[in-house]
Amino acid sequence: MTNFNMNTYQNDIIVSILQTIEEINHLKDVDTILDKILYEARKLSRSDAGTIFLVEDNQLKFSYVHNDTLFKKDESNAALYSNYSVPINEGSIVGYTALTGDPQNIEDAYQMSPNTPYHFNPDYDKKSGYRTTSILTIPLKTFENKLVGVMQLINAKNDSGQSIPFSIESQTYVPLFANHASVAIERGVMNRELILRMMKMAELRDPTETGAHVQRVGAYSAEIYQQWANRHKLDKKVIKRNKDIIRLAAMLHDVGKVGISDFILKKPGKLSDQEYDIMKWHTVYGARLFINTTSLLDTISREIALNHHEKWSGPGYPGKIENILTENIAMGTPKQGEEIPLAARITSLADVFDALTSKRSYKEAWTDEQILGTIEKESGKQFDPELVDCFFQIFDVIKAIRAKYQ
Ligand code: C2E
Ligand code: SIN
Ligand code: SIN
Ligand code: FE
Ligand code: FE
Repeated sequence: MTNFNMNTYQNDIIVSILQTIEEINHLKDVDTILDKILYEARKLSRSDAGTIFLVEDNQLKFSYVHNDTLFKKDESNAALYSNYSVPINEGSIVGYTALTGDPQNIEDAYQMSPNTPYHFNPDYDKKSGYRTTSILTIPLKTFENKLVGVMQLINAKNDSGQSIPFSIESQTYVPLFANHASVAIERGVMNRELILRMMKMAELRDPTETGAHVQRVGAYSAEIYQQWANRHKLDKKVIKRNKDIIRLAAMLHDVGKVGISDFILKKPGKLSDQEYDIMKWHTVYGARLFINTTSLLDTISREIALNHHEKWSGPGYPGKIENILTENIAMGTPKQGEEIPLAARITSLADVFDALTSKRSYKEAWTDEQILGTIEKESGKQFDPELVDCFFQIFDVIKAIRAKYQ
């Protein structure tokens, strides 16, 4: 009888793990994949908090965090965009886990055996007021044994919410899932890099701009969307899926600049009216790349590329165009308000904010005061006023993103 119960219990866990793996395999962007993996690992181990570090340039780069005690669930959160790395060596728990490939199970971070090679760094607890007790670290390795990162789970909880050591089950089940998770992470990183490379082709020619602009616009857009979607009380799963897609699609907003000549793209001064008219075609050129409508990512990418220079109160560009494949057509009659797809309204705000923050070949960076003043002034004109509200509500997150991708 006991055995039977054990098996049912184990079965439920395995089914849940398999379901999660299936869901992760549908996600595209690395941040959403990390969120899902951390969620599942914390559910399996009943832990309060967790962090994922990814291997980058032979270091462990902080990449994702959950903390039920410190952060509100499913809300935009500046801590996600912290920017630091830990060396892969014996000095830290995660460094040691990466170095040796062995999971570490620590009962109390403040009472570790003096024989352990690594030390617990209490800085984060000191700053945040959090109390780290139990820690479980898991190396994230693909089936080919390639290390992609380390997951650190913190404070396993019992039924009454007290921190307890991580159980044998946690040590068994979380690693079971780690290989699949690692493969998904590798794929997510590859997707992100593929997009950055694609954008480099478009932006390489503009030497002041690199992947950083693209990453910022993607992250701003994803967070503004989440704030908007929370307000509209959309289903949590729907929000996660759309956020995943909007982040990638927003990164591609200017991909149509590949079709614009160097002379215009790199011009150090102000564009003439004629040159500006040519520049406007980057919206249509971009949209043509996503003419295929088989995936939601293609659809949203096309909506964003085509409409990210439309204005809430009209007229932006290119306006209503019957067939974007037709050559030599004039710009269309103006679109406005909700005729402009939501994802494009969001990206427009993110793009202009970022363009104003940055130095361009044709202009200096603005101060925050000037930028915020302009955005406020343009609320209801250039920008959807509700999105401007969302933007200001998460401005601390926006600043954290800007600091992360410099
Ligand atoms: P971008 O530099 O990424 O700018 C994106 C959008 O941010 C602009 O769309 C505009 O709405 C806003 N923006 C950027 N700088 C300023 C500014 O100084 N003042 C104001 N009020 N808004 C600003 P827009 O105007 O449709 O331009 C699209 C793209 O065309 C720009 O992308 C840039 O690549 C190019 N571009 C626009 N004007 C010039 C120019 O005078 N010289 C050169 N070389 N390129 C320009
Ligand atoms: C223009 O309207 O010619 C360009 C606006 C700008 O990006 O400065
Ligand atoms: C979208 O998900 O971007 C479309 C939804 C809308 O325009 O309201
Ligand atoms: Fe653009
Ligand atoms: Fe842009």
